[in-house]
Amino acid sequence: MSKPGIIVHGGCGRIDESTIEERQAGVKQAAEAGWAILSQGGSAIDAVEAAVVVLEDLPLFNAGRGSVLNREGRVETDAAIMNGATLAAGAIAGVTGILNPIRLARRVMDASPHVMLIGDGAELFARSQGFVRCDPRELIVERRQEEWEREHGTVGAVACDQAGRLAAATSTGGIANKLPGRVGDSPLIGCGTYADARVAVSCTGDGERIIRMTLARLAAFLHEQGGSAQQATDQALGQLEAQLGGEAGLILIDASGNAAFAKSSHRMPVCAISETGVILQC
Ligand code: GLY
Repeated sequence: MSKPGIIVHGGCGRIDESTIEERQAGVKQAAEAGWAILSQGGSAIDAVEAAVVVLEDLPLFNAGRGSVLNREGRVETDAAIMNGATLAAGAIAGVTGILNPIRLARRVMDASPHVMLIGDGAELFARSQGFVRCDPRELIVERRQEEWEREHGTVGAVACDQAGRLAAATSTGGIANKLPGRVGDSPLIGCGTYADARVAVSCTGDGERIIRMTLARLAAFLHEQGGSAQQATDQALGQLEAQLGGEAGLILIDASGNAAFAKSSHRMPVCAISETGVILQC
């Protein structure tokens, strides 16, 4: 029997220090939602989806409602989910008008023959699956523009269930002032999101750099090569910093339930829950 556990992040980058407590409360609420599933014998894939939905619903985080705006003042969301037990994955990119993009990514995984759908095609699929389209303005919350520009907010969760199955989920509005059509690392399997039988990883930070480093898969590779959860996480981030720089963070959990995180930015709200208790950091 594996030790179940979940670790959640709320994005890296400089944040308004007055929001730290609220951000910590948010990642804790998300981790608790996932843990409620794991502790009752539920699956890692359901746990990470539930955790990310909580963060998408909280306007303080850059995912779902509260996502940053692109250069045209519109929200375009990206999300991915991956089941490490089956290597099944689902992702969406450039989607407007869906309150919980991670649920749509999950549906792409479960109900389509594809891994990723984008833009209008993803929204057409959403409608065919009974998702209710919201007014895209519902996703926009008022915030100071400079605050958006400092943040690389993204949210993510990785979990290990009682059977040792792993899963990862990541959701984001991307980066502020992005060109319409820009896609970051979060929905790209192996870049911002990855899970297999050994590890599950979710990344946050400068997507253009994370993509070129295939950061999530790099962390998985370093773990495969014998690194512990913490070593793989630290070394993957170290390679990103050494070769490309930028701000980033990642969370990782292995099939024994060992959770780890690393960040090169000043702040990254993180909450991990397992049978041994709760770890909360920012
Ligand atoms: N890491 C999120 C993004 O760059 O879109």
